[in-house]
Amino acid sequence: MRACYPGSFDPLTLGHLDIIERAAPLCAHLTVAVVHNPSKQTLFSLAERQQILENQLAHLGNVSVDHFSGLLVEYVRKMDYQAVVRGLRDSSDAPIELQMARLNREMLPHCETLMLAAAGHLSHVSSSFVREIARLGGPIDQLVTPFVAAQVKQKLTSKEAS
Ligand code: PNS
Repeated sequence: MRACYPGSFDPLTLGHLDIIERAAPLCAHLTVAVVHNPSKQTLFSLAERQQILENQLAHLGNVSVDHFSGLLVEYVRKMDYQAVVRGLRDSSDAPIELQMARLNREMLPHCETLMLAAAGHLSHVSSSFVREIARLGGPIDQLVTPFVAAQVKQKLTSKEAS
C-alpha cells in the first residue's frame, strides 16, 4: 500500500513521529505530506517544515517527504495514493477526523483514511501547544525531539531579534 500522512507539522512532534514510525511498516511507501496553506500563518515556512521532517525521518527507508496545496483529495488523486493516514489522540479529535475522512471519501470514493490511535503517553501532545509553551519560555523537551526543540528555540530567538 502507498499512503500519505498529511498535516501541518508546525513543528513535527513526538506524536507525529510515533504515528509515522508505526504507519511506515504497514505501507510499501509512506509519504509525509506537508500542507501549504498561504492564508494560514505558521511558525516555520513550508521549506523549513519539510527540512525538519527530512532530517528527522532519514532513518525510515520507505518514508519520503512532500508537500501539497489545495484539496487533499486532489493530491491523493494525482499521486494515486491508496490511503491517507491520520493519528487520533483522544475523543475530541474523533468528530473532525471522522468528518474529514467522510468528506474526503465522498469527494474521492477510493480515498480511505486509516486512523491510528496515538500512544497514551503522547495523547496530550500538539504542535500548537509546543509553539505556545516555547513562545512563553516553557520546556518542550517532552513534546518534541532535541533537534526540533533546538529549531524552535532558534526560530523564536531570530523572530525576537527581527
Ligand atoms: O496537522 P493538521 O493541521 O491537523 O492537518 C490537517 C490537514 C492538512 C490534513 C487538513 O486541513 C487538510 O486536509 N487540508 C487540505 C485542504 C482540504 O482538503 N480540506 C478539506 C478537508 S475535508
